Amino acid sequence: MRESPEQPLSSFKLWGGRFSKPTDRLVDELNASISFDRRLAYHDILGSLAHVQMLARQGIIPEIDAVAIVEGLGIILREIQQGEFEFRLEDEDIHLSVERRLRELIGPAAGRLHTARSRNDQVALDLRLWTRDAILVVSKGISEVVQALLDLAGRHRETVMPGYTHLQRAQPVLLAHHLHAYVAMLFRDLERLRDLYGRVNRSPLGSGALAGVTYPVDRQYVADLLAMDGICENSLDAVSDRDFVLEFLAALSLLMTHLSRLAEELILWSTGEFGFVEIDDAYATGSSIMPQKKNPDVAELIRAKTGRVLGHLTGLATVLKGLPLAYNKDLQEDKEGVFDAFDTVALILQVLPPMLRTLRFRTDRMAEAAAGSFSLATDLADHLVRQGMPFREAHELVGRVVAYCEAHKKDFPDLTPAEWSQFHPLLAESRPPLTVWDAIRAREIPGGTGPGQVSRALEQAVARLAEEVAWIEAERQRLAAAESRLLAGAAL
Ligand code: ARG
Repeated sequence: MRESPEQPLSSFKLWGGRFSKPTDRLVDELNASISFDRRLAYHDILGSLAHVQMLARQGIIPEIDAVAIVEGLGIILREIQQGEFEFRLEDEDIHLSVERRLRELIGPAAGRLHTARSRNDQVALDLRLWTRDAILVVSKGISEVVQALLDLAGRHRETVMPGYTHLQRAQPVLLAHHLHAYVAMLFRDLERLRDLYGRVNRSPLGSGALAGVTYPVDRQYVADLLAMDGICENSLDAVSDRDFVLEFLAALSLLMTHLSRLAEELILWSTGEFGFVEIDDAYATGSSIMPQKKNPDVAELIRAKTGRVLGHLTGLATVLKGLPLAYNKDLQEDKEGVFDAFDTVALILQVLPPMLRTLRFRTDRMAEAAAGSFSLATDLADHLVRQGMPFREAHELVGRVVAYCEAHKKDFPDLTPAEWSQFHPLLAESRPPLTVWDAIRAREIPGGTGPGQVSRALEQAVARLAEEVAWIEAERQRLAAAESRLLAGAAL
């Protein structure tokens, strides 16, 4: 280390031993990650507290130095939390910043903290600890969106609307059924995050720079202190794997894709042309020139920010795809994208539930639209099939009825018995079901829009949501307990 006045370095480096010149200022700027990885400070200190406790327990460093280190880390954490900590570009990254400050506070004993550790396994640990918290925050946010959708669906078990294919009216459905479709998507998002959590929550410490460390460390003990579910099984992989970040970004991208589809429907439904829904004034904006305008900006931004999150996924995948083992500095590029993706998603998950709750559905418009455009044509064909006609024949016949109605500007209910019977004797004998509710009630099959099925689906969703929320809460408490044990040692 170079501190002598004879060889001044413009920027002092903790790794400066073999260097005869200071790094170029621009190189410092390019190389440094402190401007964004300072966000890992809390997790960096947690990791160090666990590491130093293990080092002392294994007799790798003297107990007295460990006590000083733990105390110093506690002071640093307080400084950071109170905004008093000085982050310097020359410190390069959060790991070196904390170590520099520790040395200022406790002197040479600080130099023992980095025993049996490299920044390579350290940064991998920090990011894993950050990601597991982020997963819980996002999961909680999703659960709140699900709750809002279930509340809305509960209020609209009797609201009918047109279901679409190709954005053409196809068959009537219940609004509750349509909303439950998003609940089903969001449950898959929760499931993905929970599954991924187990792969994130593993400790890479002990891998050192790449090959494993030469000290008798207890890797499992460190993992236990940090409430992690185990250790990474290969040191080379542990320091260079960022799958867990990619998986998180993929899960966020899928989540955003789902929210974007919902947003798109709200945009469409709030147009004058559809007029199915009104977005509350608190969640819409006006135009600077057209006084009559009310724009669905929140929904539009949800749709647009999906591109941003997906961009971070492709960005990191591109960084990773050509990297040789093990650590490469390229990996430093893993952080900004995932931080931004998380911030974007977290904000949206806060805005969406109240926006959903304050939607006003124009149920009259929906009901009117549900009945139009011959949306009961399939049901008419099904009626003929039940009388014994092969489906293809029924399809053809109903097609002719539709063409006749269009030519005479009529709808099915307007047809007289004489008109019906001219198409087929079967239609002279029995009247087909011709209301929207006939069509909806006819679909009491699992997963269908029949009112009984929809009620059952909503009940199951309520129970499932309670289970998901209980898991999130239990996990949060487990982590909080482990963290307060570590911090208690540091008198925090
Ligand atoms: N700031 C670095 C990162 O974010 C920490 C690891 C640095 N390791 C190294 N060998 N230079 O990846």
